[in-house]
Amino acid sequence: MEIVKTPSDLKRLRKSMQGSVGFVPTMGALHKGHLSLIERSIKENDTTIVSIFVNPTQFLPGEDFEKYPRRYEADKKICELAGVDILFMPEVKDIYFEDEVKVKAPDVLGYVLEGHFRPGHFDGVLHIVNKLLHIASPDRAYFGKKDAQQLFLIQQMVRDHFMDVEIVSCEIVREPDGLALSSRNVYLDPDERQKAQLLSKSLKKAAKMVQMGEKNSQKIKAQMEEILQPIKVEYIEIVDRNFKRLDTIEVGNSIILVAAYVGDTRLIDNIWI
Ligand code: PAF
Repeated sequence: MEIVKTPSDLKRLRKSMQGSVGFVPTMGALHKGHLSLIERSIKENDTTIVSIFVNPTQFLPGEDFEKYPRRYEADKKICELAGVDILFMPEVKDIYFEDEVKVKAPDVLGYVLEGHFRPGHFDGVLHIVNKLLHIASPDRAYFGKKDAQQLFLIQQMVRDHFMDVEIVSCEIVREPDGLALSSRNVYLDPDERQKAQLLSKSLKKAAKMVQMGEKNSQKIKAQMEEILQPIKVEYIEIVDRNFKRLDTIEVGNSIILVAAYVGDTRLIDNIWI
């Protein structure tokens, strides 16, 4: 595995690559969710590039940028063992310039749901993903469905900017008790870890209701709220695959989303129906 530090070095290497290139952008603190993206990229491509970059521009003032877990040595080992070809670990100074041309999230979809509670977050995400896709220039890039709105906005950016990359969406990986894997789960103490299961529990209940024939979004959300009572819910929403709010579930075209605080830790989860 080669470790590359600068955009110019990665671009030079990329030019010499033969065959298909898969790319997995991450912020590190790699877990089994990241590993599933990496493994899929390795399976589907001749070369796999993984990036680790804790992107400052997608954190709002007061969020966890400073304390976001950084486990570079462990991450290197995980990538090496998984069979990653190139690990890209740039520094902020090599990625950002002063007074830059920026990519911005769309006016509506960038500022609802996650974007409402974290205004500006998706500007930062799209800005960095745009840069990384230009640097790595992959044939395919892999993103998890857990960040469903991020995934949709990245697909939209690729479409709107006529970018030549296939965005591959990958299934959520869960702990045995249902908790969706996230680098932020390390913040949870044992009591919070217990409570964190409630997000997936509420989604499981929603899926069960749909399976039993309930399609009314209000009724489903009310049941979820009840389950989520012990924690501080930010939103529960049901949208279609284009992120339009749904009053009635459309099987095969719906996503049920939840965001909540467990203690000081903000968690998100969702289920595709
Ligand atoms: O999902 C993430 O880890 C980040 O938002 C991403 C896509 C790597 C951009 O920093």
